[in-house]
Amino acid sequence: MSTEAILKIDRVSKKYEECEALREVSFSVNKGELVVILGPSGSGKSTLLMCIAGFVKPDSGDIILDGKRINDVPPYRRNVGVVFQSMALFPNMNVFDNIAYPLKIRKLPKDEIKKKVERMLEIVGLAGLGSRRITQLSGGQQQRVAIARTLVFEPSILLLDEPLGALDRKLREEMQGEIKKIHDRVGATTLLVTHDQEEAMTMGDRILVINGGRIEQMGTPEEIYNDPKTLFVSEFIGTTNIFNGVAVKKDGRTVFKSVEGVILPLAKEAKGEGHVSIKAEHIKLFGNRPKDDIFALEAIVAQNFFSGNFIKYELDLEGTIIKAIDRDPKQVFKQGQKVYMKVTPENVRWFPK
Ligand SMILES: Nc1ncnc2c1ncn2[C@@H]1O[C@H](COP(=O)(O)OP(=O)(O)O)[C@@H](O)[C@H]1O
Ligand SMILES: [Mg+2]
Repeated sequence: MSTEAILKIDRVSKKYEECEALREVSFSVNKGELVVILGPSGSGKSTLLMCIAGFVKPDSGDIILDGKRINDVPPYRRNVGVVFQSMALFPNMNVFDNIAYPLKIRKLPKDEIKKKVERMLEIVGLAGLGSRRITQLSGGQQQRVAIARTLVFEPSILLLDEPLGALDRKLREEMQGEIKKIHDRVGATTLLVTHDQEEAMTMGDRILVINGGRIEQMGTPEEIYNDPKTLFVSEFIGTTNIFNGVAVKKDGRTVFKSVEGVILPLAKEAKGEGHVSIKAEHIKLFGNRPKDDIFALEAIVAQNFFSGNFIKYELDLEGTIIKAIDRDPKQVFKQGQKVYMKVTPENVRWFPK
């Protein structure tokens, strides 16, 4: 993967009447990269993709593809491939003709079309199925035809808007692997939209987290997971506990005091109102009060969810429900049992108001 930016989005804004769908969005995508756009429903993901594809015109800002400003270039002249959730294959054509379609309208010679389509069939794992009817394919196979049809004309960038949203869980996971493999084989620069954080984590070279039309953070999955820059990212990724309260000095130490009265250690100097977040797997549970930790909190197991290689707990901390995940369970704490929770200061993330 090169570090040469192929796509540059510069302060792009878009309003629909009252709704600010995109607010000064800026980022760039490197050649060959797979960037996942992750955000809740209504956060502006599709609007962003439609601006790049040319179906929506931004109110302001620049879209630069391959070094050229494309704001005023019509969609069919942009070298951009788009796959939506509802993929609109031609049901009356076979697989081969569906994939060949973009090349036919570009008037390529027949033998060249045949060569390109056959190569695509191989890449998406459908070699030999060219003469099948679309209706004779599974959902996942149809999705691969849609991707092949988009890749066949070698777009500068491939845009996928929740392409797996309609598939069931098992097929979805299979297709996540398939798309990643196709991406690695072709090396096509790809932007993939999803609202599913696990999908974003497993697929993205980098993740762009968007919320309310604004970029919250862009980074590798590791950065987004381990070093969330905003309270939103911290809450949206993984299983997270959020507390509202104040940072104060107590016995010479900086601590956080939640509105419910929970006291937590902080690693760095802090002062005033704010939030802290703690990832569920950073909460360690003990059957007896740990002697080395004055901050250990006593709670009652409200629920436990055993999932084979990990256990999820809901703990009742004087009326507040805390989520904890034990990924290396040596013992199972039962419902109603008293436990002690321990969290190191480094794992208590402070977000001032
Ligand atoms: N054509 C439209 N007219 C008015 N509002 C729209 C239109 N398209 C999208 N919106 C609004 O813009 C916001 C962003 O929408 P969208 O980009 O579709 O979000 P996402 O794809 O993340 O779910 C939402 O609040 C949505 O209701
Ligand atoms: Mg959408």
